[in-house]
Amino acid sequence: MVAALPDEGDGIGPRMHRHQRAVARMWDGLVVPSDAAWKVGARVLADAPMEPERSVETMATLAASVHQLAVKAHTLTTGEERSLLYGELITTCATCHSQSTATVRSGGGARATQAR
Ligand code: HEC
Repeated sequence: MVAALPDEGDGIGPRMHRHQRAVARMWDGLVVPSDAAWKVGARVLADAPMEPERSVETMATLAASVHQLAVKAHTLTTGEERSLLYGELITTCATCHSQSTATVRSGGGARATQAR
């Protein structure tokens, strides 16, 4: 059970993998397009814990935006609305990552930021 859900109590890295999988579902939802994939992805993202380990205020705000967008995603029905929201969502992910690079590196195991 624990092995199947590595997002519990093991820092932000495994949690982020869960977010990435959720967003990948939403992408499928847009491209296929698949209503079911979009909704499953949005639900997982809305439920996924996103609290930054260090309480930097901007990061907390960004984390809250991800959740708000995920909740809103669930209410959208057209491909156009969903595409716009997806863009906003990815921008929010990227903004937090670009602000947290220093923290990320000292924490180790940050595959997403090692390219340089
Ligand atoms: C509150 C700030 C914040 C937000 C918002 C955020 N992330 Fe992250 N993310 C981080 C931090 C910090 C790390 C570095 C984790 C580490 O040190 O392994 C990270 C790392 C990652 C990684 C790499 C994990 C690893 O183990 O190497 C992925 C993938 C990822 N994020 C996906 C996402 C996606 C997708 C979203 C948007 C839905 C998102 N993140 C939103 C802070 C955030």
